[in-house]
Amino acid sequence: IVAQFQPKVLAGQHVVVTAGPTFEALDPIRGITNHSSGKMGFSIARAARDAGAEVTLIAGPVHLPTPRGVRRVDVKSAQDMLGATLQAVQTAAIFVATAAVADWRPATHSEHKIKKDGSGKPPVLHFVENEDILLTVAQGARAKGGDLFCVGFAAESENLVEHAKAKRERKGIPLLVGNIGPLTFGQDHNSLLLVDAKGVRELPRAPKLTLARELVAEIAARVPEYVR
Ligand code: CTP
Ligand code: CA
Repeated sequence: IVAQFQPKVLAGQHVVVTAGPTFEALDPIRGITNHSSGKMGFSIARAARDAGAEVTLIAGPVHLPTPRGVRRVDVKSAQDMLGATLQAVQTAAIFVATAAVADWRPATHSEHKIKKDGSGKPPVLHFVENEDILLTVAQGARAKGGDLFCVGFAAESENLVEHAKAKRERKGIPLLVGNIGPLTFGQDHNSLLLVDAKGVRELPRAPKLTLARELVAEIAARVPEYVR
């Protein structure tokens, strides 16, 4: 259905969405990243805008057009994404973390291209863990005080229900959304598992924008208890 016919259930609310992968540089031309397409996050940004929200979309490196009327902040690394997110959520009522944030970054970033040294031995790479953006936001004063409703996503390759329940509790968030496998990077369809304090509910396989609209309705229905 077209945008203007969507119920304005988030009218005037500031919604922050992270989307896509992050890119963790190793040297000026190489880095580690992942296969996240950003489509789910961009669909949620669009659905939130269509629901009347003011949307900030914090995007890792993806090849997707910005939904009209959405403020987009492009970032590369998890550290950049954390900085942009902490800034944006200061005025937000809802934070939806769909980004596939790299869990680790190279411990050192080489200013120049790492060259083969002729020995035939590959370099040994060291990594450090990236800060958990969702956890940091969810443990912040605004989320703890009930002014910021946080939603997480989980991509699991096995035991989705158990992992999703555990992840929701570990992150201390009211709602966690699981991608029902198999991992569907870049596809236009998906099915989702909603996990909250009451239990588990499935949103059956549908186009990502349809699922995003359903998710926005689910979030809006929960937010009045949080937003004062
Ligand atoms: N997330 C985040 N910052 C990170 C890692 C994850 O904000 N450094 C967010 C993701 O955007 C997602 C949620 O946390 O909303 C769950 O991400 P996921 O990778 O499934 O979980 P992790 O906590 O990283 O645990 P693991 O990858 O080991 O399953
Ligand atoms: Ca992870």
